[in-house]
Amino acid sequence: MIPTPHIELTDPNLLGKTVLMPGDPLRAEYIANTYLDNVVKINHIRNMFGFTGSYKGKKITVMGSGMGMPSIGIYSYELFAFYNIEQIIRIGSCGSYSESAKLYDVIVVEDAFSESSFAKTAFGYEENIIGSSQSTLHDLIHAADQLQYPILKGRIHSSDVFYRSNGNVMKDVAQKYDCLAVEMESFALFANAKKLGKKAGCILTVSDSLVTNEATTAQERQNSFNKMMEIALEAAI
Ligand code: HPA
Repeated sequence: MIPTPHIELTDPNLLGKTVLMPGDPLRAEYIANTYLDNVVKINHIRNMFGFTGSYKGKKITVMGSGMGMPSIGIYSYELFAFYNIEQIIRIGSCGSYSESAKLYDVIVVEDAFSESSFAKTAFGYEENIIGSSQSTLHDLIHAADQLQYPILKGRIHSSDVFYRSNGNVMKDVAQKYDCLAVEMESFALFANAKKLGKKAGCILTVSDSLVTNEATTAQERQNSFNKMMEIALEAAI
């Protein structure tokens, strides 16, 4: 298989049909070692590690996306367009914009609002809200139901910036566009999937809050991460 600029597989058969994408490549390694059997490392370019293994007998890949839309835009485009990946499920964290999304709650993303120019620049898309794929969304919700894990469903903000001093994001974005929480990747992932006729979804845990000062423990963090991972894995197979 011809390598793309950012992904070089050691064997063309090493990719599953679904890729789970955390932002952090070391998180990808942890997930692979914790949840998958027969794990093989598939990419190491720029240390953006990817791993393929099996989950309940099905081949599945976990690979880092990096932070932000330019980074996930590159990796998801190459996986969809050049490696025949059918579905990417982002698994990440987000900052809550809403009292209803409490620390360590799990959010299944229905659609993403962004002020980013990514989709317009890349594909001429004028819309500022792009949906996740219906079937991926359905599978994530169904998996959560089966596992009897409570989730929130809704819109999130895909932001281009983490640090800002301009404007009032709660008023200008959260309330105006009815966003539950903020992260930095989904809009670009969903735009790529839409353009390329592929499937994409996203599941997040709330890692911090922009509305309250809640305190939690490392154990709660781990519990919520495990729940999110189980939902994503069950949806992927
Ligand atoms: N902002 C943007 N992205 C994030 C945040 C945040 O507060 N928390 C986790 N991802």
